[in-house]
Amino acid sequence: MALSNYVEAVIEEKDWYITNLSNVAACLWQQIPDVSWVGFYLMTDKGNDKELILGPFQGKVACTHIALGRGVCGVSASENKTLIVPDVSQFSGYIACDSEARSEIVIPLRNKDGVVIGVLDIDSNTEGRFSEANEESADLEKCAELISNIIPKTIN
Ligand code: SME
Repeated sequence: MALSNYVEAVIEEKDWYITNLSNVAACLWQQIPDVSWVGFYLMTDKGNDKELILGPFQGKVACTHIALGRGVCGVSASENKTLIVPDVSQFSGYIACDSEARSEIVIPLRNKDGVVIGVLDIDSNTEGRFSEANEESADLEKCAELISNIIPKTIN
């Protein structure tokens, strides 16, 4: 079964998005092999003061605030595009929450107007764990879309 089918199956009532995000993080954590961290950073919007803050996740304790344009998550969010980093030591400005992490994929979560409302972040201790244009990445993009639909608005 595809990851997106599992995600679809765990999402319940749309209003309880923290509940849903928690179960989606756990679901992806259980289903994806060889990952060290799975979770969400959500966009806060205080006037012109946007940043990403830590949402539900599975894995080690992580940094709580990420400025737009900083780290893989902040660049993915500000450029509104999926980033696959095969070797995190080569990513300028990489934010190391876990010294054992080697590779990462970050997929933007977008509202219905295409505006970034957060990111799905997945890390692995294996270098080159994530690849562009494979079945898993396409499936993860679909998961991000399903997840985006349950986040009501930017959080403050
Ligand atoms: N490495 C990320 C920070 C978040 S942790 O991976 C959980 C980054 O560079 O944005």
